[in-house]
Amino acid sequence: MKITSAEFVMSNSDVAKCPKEPLPEYAFIGRSNVGKSSLINMLVDRKSLAKTSGRPGKTQLINHFKINQNWFLVDLPGYGYARVSKKDKKVFQKYITAYFEKRKQLVCSFVLVDIRHEPQPIDLEFMEWLGANGVPFAIIFTKADKLKPGAIERHVNTYLNLLLETAWEEAPPHFVTSSSNRMGKEVLLSYINDINES
Ligand code: GTP
Ligand code: MG
Repeated sequence: MKITSAEFVMSNSDVAKCPKEPLPEYAFIGRSNVGKSSLINMLVDRKSLAKTSGRPGKTQLINHFKINQNWFLVDLPGYGYARVSKKDKKVFQKYITAYFEKRKQLVCSFVLVDIRHEPQPIDLEFMEWLGANGVPFAIIFTKADKLKPGAIERHVNTYLNLLLETAWEEAPPHFVTSSSNRMGKEVLLSYINDINES
């Protein structure tokens, strides 16, 4: 799919105030610093449409980006950031939970995990919560430029096998990406395009 336009529409913490248009949308969620905002920029070929940072906790709100005038990419704050206060964590949990529970336009969420790391309980629990709430999701392994091809395959297999041994009967769709070397861009855009056209 060719990206012909990508524009920031709005940021907010209230799902009721998100764009009203009934356009399909795709949300990026995962631990702080996993590379959600960077991946959005990579997909749309823009350096800083979504704000990124080396320090975790950069994205704080629900951010809507309209793509090709007919669908949305949604950048969300990360979870699991240790330096956020308990109170902030609760507020965050509330509006992100509400976003996933109430947003009718959400057609698929992408749960991002750093390909270098062992499966983390917080990610596995979040995927189970999505499953229990009937929210379709796919896994995106990020920062693949940090591993050699053999290790990429090994890490992905370990991750998927763990899912199959525990909560899941079949592996969710999954993608291997790098915002640094653009790995996975076309495959991911085709996946989105296929859903948009179905
Ligand atoms: P929060 O908004 O804080 O939750 O973080 P985020 O998940 O949006 O991460 P962000 O895109 O801001 O990236 C975090 C850091 O990881 C930045 O320093 C990025 O440059 C780096 N990064 C993101 N993607 C990649 C990647 O594919 N490869 C490498 N090597 N670094 C990456
Ligand atoms: Mg971010």
